[in-house]
Amino acid sequence: MCSNKKVIGVCYGPRCSDFGGRDMAEALREMGHEVENLDCQSLCPHAPAIRVNGRFVHRATIERVKEKL
Ligand code: FES
Repeated sequence: MCSNKKVIGVCYGPRCSDFGGRDMAEALREMGHEVENLDCQSLCPHAPAIRVNGRFVHRATIERVKEKL
């Protein structure tokens, strides 16, 4: 597991939430990461959108987010 905490931003907009964004935010928090709730980022066709180190992961999964940390 990554030792240094980095801020992750998760879109809490309706479409990303439908595609599991909020659930992933909770899972990431439980893993010890700092997670910021974001408004809709106009990336809805690519939901769920999760920002890691300033870049958005489209159609994010926990595994793909962890790869970017
Ligand atoms: S709802 Fe997440 S980008 Fe629009």
